[in-house]
Amino acid sequence: MSRAFVCLVAIALSASSVPSAGARSAKAELAQAPARDTPAPPGTATIRGRVLAADANEHPLSRVEVRASCAPLRINKAALTDAGGRYDRIVYLPCTAENGFQPALPDRHVDLIYLCYPNNPTGAVMTRAALGRWVDYARAHEAVIVYDAAYEAYIRESEIPHSIYEIEGAREVAIESRSFSKSAGFTGLRMAYTVVPREAQGRTADGRAVNLNQLWLRRQSTKSNGPPYVIQRAAAAVYTPEGQEQVRALIDHYMENARIIRAGLEGAGLTVYGGRNAPYIWIRTPAGVSSWDFFDRLLAEAQVIGVPGSGFGPSGEGYFRVTAFGSRAQSAEAVERIAARLRA
Ligand SMILES: Cc1ncc(COP(=O)(O)O)c(C=O)c1O
Repeated sequence: MSRAFVCLVAIALSASSVPSAGARSAKAELAQAPARDTPAPPGTATIRGRVLAADANEHPLSRVEVRASCAPLRINKAALTDAGGRYDRIVYLPCTAENGFQPALPDRHVDLIYLCYPNNPTGAVMTRAALGRWVDYARAHEAVIVYDAAYEAYIRESEIPHSIYEIEGAREVAIESRSFSKSAGFTGLRMAYTVVPREAQGRTADGRAVNLNQLWLRRQSTKSNGPPYVIQRAAAAVYTPEGQEQVRALIDHYMENARIIRAGLEGAGLTVYGGRNAPYIWIRTPAGVSSWDFFDRLLAEAQVIGVPGSGFGPSGEGYFRVTAFGSRAQSAEAVERIAARLRA
């Protein structure tokens, strides 16, 4: 792929559609920032769509009734669930160790596909070939892929795609959401962006093609005030040389935590996944130990907490998520305690 820049257009209109001087200025800075200061990493796709700066409280998925694979999504609670807690009208795509955390293509038509890679919680990544199969499926089925790339900055292996737009034909069928939360520590500030290529098309219930870029632009420019100016300035600073250096140092710090945690847990005899291209380590709980039982044991025996895998969906039972988003000292102490105190 050629050197490429994301055309970052911050939509920060006030309710009256008249941007303040501050908002205008931030739009200009954000629009210029990536192109001006950031050399495009190898393999970056050219994105000719529009990138909308979004207040991350308004995550594009927050009102979508979809749940696939094992990533955490907010679901409309009114959707029906079966006895196993599965939501109605949602096709589940199990991601387990048995399939290498690579979901099989749906065995039927679906309208909307949610994929998250690098994956929260499993830490898995998707190869270019596997992602290509999803793009082919979406094109054949006129489905839309929502690609959650919140953790792309954690990818270490050069052959793993950072963006779905590295895949031929993805622009017509994929929306990509990205977040400053994980790369630049913006979780509390709330800032994200969504890539909706001009070519992207959805379908109405009666099968008519709809331009998703125009739909999203209209939605954002009429229903969102955009992120506060001070936060847009902070996001623009991420693209300065100093910002890039700090972001890299932060990610390196977390990934070294991930290496220490992974090695320590393996040394303690646990089976672990992830942690190589993602800040999460996904532990297989010992045979016969449920996710919550494992939580109780870690708490009681080592005074360490993590997240029971069953909280991420049906495929998460029998797993446990540990995060590398901590200090070096605490990460190291947590694995030492687990290794020393967890009884077999
Ligand atoms: C996969 C994934 N996508 C999105 C988000 C949320 O990002 P933001 O903070 O921008 O809402 C998270 C947060 O944990 C996440 O794990």
